[in-house]
Amino acid sequence: MHSFHYKDGSLHCEDVNLATLAKEHGSPLYVYSAHTFRDHYTRLDAALGDLDHHIAYAVKANSNLSILRLLNELGSGFDIVSGGELYRVLQAGGSGSQCTFAGVGKTRDELKYALENDIYCINAESIAELELINEVAKDLGLTAPVAVRVNPNVDAKTHKYISTGKSENKFGIDFELVSELYDRAAGFTNLNLRGLQMHIGSQLRSITPFIEAIERVAPLVQQLKAAHNIEFFSIGGGVGIIYDPALESGSPDWWAQQNDDELTIEKYATEIVPRLKKLGLRILLEPGRYIAGNAGVLLTECLYEKKGSAKTFKVVDSGMNDLIRPALYEGHHQIVPIREDQRTPLVKADVVGPICESGDFFCQDRDIADVQSGDLLALMSAGAYGFTMASNYNTRPMPAEILVDATEAKVIRRRQSLEDLIALEK
Ligand code: LLP
Repeated sequence: MHSFHYKDGSLHCEDVNLATLAKEHGSPLYVYSAHTFRDHYTRLDAALGDLDHHIAYAVKANSNLSILRLLNELGSGFDIVSGGELYRVLQAGGSGSQCTFAGVGKTRDELKYALENDIYCINAESIAELELINEVAKDLGLTAPVAVRVNPNVDAKTHKYISTGKSENKFGIDFELVSELYDRAAGFTNLNLRGLQMHIGSQLRSITPFIEAIERVAPLVQQLKAAHNIEFFSIGGGVGIIYDPALESGSPDWWAQQNDDELTIEKYATEIVPRLKKLGLRILLEPGRYIAGNAGVLLTECLYEKKGSAKTFKVVDSGMNDLIRPALYEGHHQIVPIREDQRTPLVKADVVGPICESGDFFCQDRDIADVQSGDLLALMSAGAYGFTMASNYNTRPMPAEILVDATEAKVIRRRQSLEDLIALEK
């Protein structure tokens, strides 16, 4: 479910009017629903039932300290990909022992930082990395808990930039080589072979690739359990979301309105749990988008309408620096007016930002609300990979972030000032 709906003629996040938030805090503005974050976490946790599991939220999706704190309070673990993300988890009250550390290019300093903070597991992606982890652990007088990320060579059928489980992708170690690698790594003095990890891609909207990957890797898990006593198998993240959520009054449960062949978290759990239970070890999951995606929107104000000979453009005050998904992955975000009376009639237009790039658009040739200068729009489902991928390109300050919880709205990150932008420069 999500918590954005029209009430009293205006789009609300939970009980807070988004028009009021824009007036108070300016535009562009990221707004998140605490309720949606909680609901998605607990829904996944419940769907997994009595499977021995640990949810390690993928911090990269949305790494604001207040969001991490909220998830930490629910009992979530964290999947991190940098020393910076570990720092965030620690600052939010979490610990290294709740974290798995992913990524193809961890540095010596990052490995040291992770080991000093009692990391639960480092997921290695090459023999060279295992050698370095062993060396760093030896220097620290520690044993490093490690897993290897296996590349199962399964097609996730998602956008090529977020597909990770094929052998031509840079991620993981070829399925065929993993067993031998564990035998070799077992000889390293300062490594503890704790688990096996995989992640085949992001925004998967079908269960089939997940099943294919689990079934392909399951015999390897069993073999490694017998030979090396591994304690966990991480199946990664990747569960996709709907980028066109329904927005009617009363927060409808939009999972319920999907077609039968679409992926719900319950269907995901129903299919994977029995297959994983058989393995008899701890299962880790690393959801990012599923938890955060539909929990946030990016509010933006229409600055100008511009009618050209070929197209109509709605120029808004937010750009690809604030939300890069359409430019980078041709990502689709539903775009709706804050004023309910502007939902119709629709006009065909491009919604574009102020950045000096032709790729700076949020939609092209789409039927959208006929907003004019001063009207507000919401780019829906921007809670994951929105703010975390934002930049200061064109020397644009990053938007503020607001967390709504029922009737309360808190600034969880203030808008950057121009002084912030040059603070580190000489
Ligand atoms: N685990 C690993 C090892 C990952 O690389 C990722 C995401 C996840 C878990 C979480 O995946 P999720 O559940 O969120 O699909 N910026 C792109 C998505 C990049 C995903 C990178 N890895 C986007 O905006 O679509």
